[in-house]
Amino acid sequence: SWTMLNIVEDAVEAVRAQIGPEGRAICALSGGVDSAVAAAMVQRAIGDRLTCVFVDHGLLRKGEAEQVERDFVAVTGVKLRVVDAQERFLKALDGVTDPEEKRKIIGREFIRVFEDEQRAIIADGPVDFLVQGTLYPDVVESGGGTGTANIKSHHNVGGLPDDLQFSLVEPLRALFKDEVRRAGEELGLPAAMVWRQPFPGPGLGIRIVGAVTRDRLEILREADAIAREELSRAGLDRDIWQCPVVLLADVRSVGVQGDGRTYGHPIVLRPVSSEDAMTADWSRVPYDVLARISTRITNEVREVNRVVLDVTSKPPGTIEWE
Ligand code: XMP
Repeated sequence: SWTMLNIVEDAVEAVRAQIGPEGRAICALSGGVDSAVAAAMVQRAIGDRLTCVFVDHGLLRKGEAEQVERDFVAVTGVKLRVVDAQERFLKALDGVTDPEEKRKIIGREFIRVFEDEQRAIIADGPVDFLVQGTLYPDVVESGGGTGTANIKSHHNVGGLPDDLQFSLVEPLRALFKDEVRRAGEELGLPAAMVWRQPFPGPGLGIRIVGAVTRDRLEILREADAIAREELSRAGLDRDIWQCPVVLLADVRSVGVQGDGRTYGHPIVLRPVSSEDAMTADWSRVPYDVLARISTRITNEVREVNRVVLDVTSKPPGTIEWE
């Protein structure tokens, strides 16, 4: 729209003025909306003086890494370094079951990988600016300070260490979430990226109740993709705030699938409606949609023989299981 076009153009102009004609910037892409829109704006402002870093920690959903590596780059022309860190994250998470411990490890590994990349980028010339997808509600929540790398650890995997001497570039500081989405559309980003529902930084790592392994991630990724596909097909994407799909990896139950008895794992569907994730209600997804999801998951994902629905509001249940 006309106003959104103006908002984008003004933001791009402000970034250009802040970074100057020679300055270089880096940005960590998470697969989420905010970092993608922020990066696309800065790319428009300074071209390949921006380098983006995408750490593939192996905890994203099906197709999301490709969305960043291929579709985002194709649309924006952004200079991107992709780090395949899946092995490293799996090793660091080996045997860990405690949710907060998982978060800590994922955050820590992310910072280490990102710092290694920074060193490589700085070897090509100095970098003074770090791009962050901070939104207006984050600014208000954190007291409105500007300028320094003061990042909430909860909400981004990319919580960065304090000792980095970067000036922050925050082109979304004046925007609300829906404005960021519209700005993303204006910049031509893929709809699946722009309209993505909230997804936690630690990703599928906190949706496996039990230790994270490659096989378990694969099972969950498939089940999650089916649930997302059927919810979208039913036109429920905008009614549902988000729908965590959770693998109870240490629970087994008996089933009959194909010719015989199986001893598989349950998958939990956790569709919720919410305004801000502080409180939530379980979504009344139509039974026929739930039936299709259940049938498809138990048919197509061999290790899963039971699909259950979480009917708990928040409070007392949180949206995520971990
Ligand atoms: P809960 O589970 O606390 O989730 O009801 C509220 C919202 O926050 C998301 N969430 C996270 N996001 N890192 C994130 O970036 C995290 O560690 C994390 N834990 C929960 C959750 O998906 C929901 O939108």
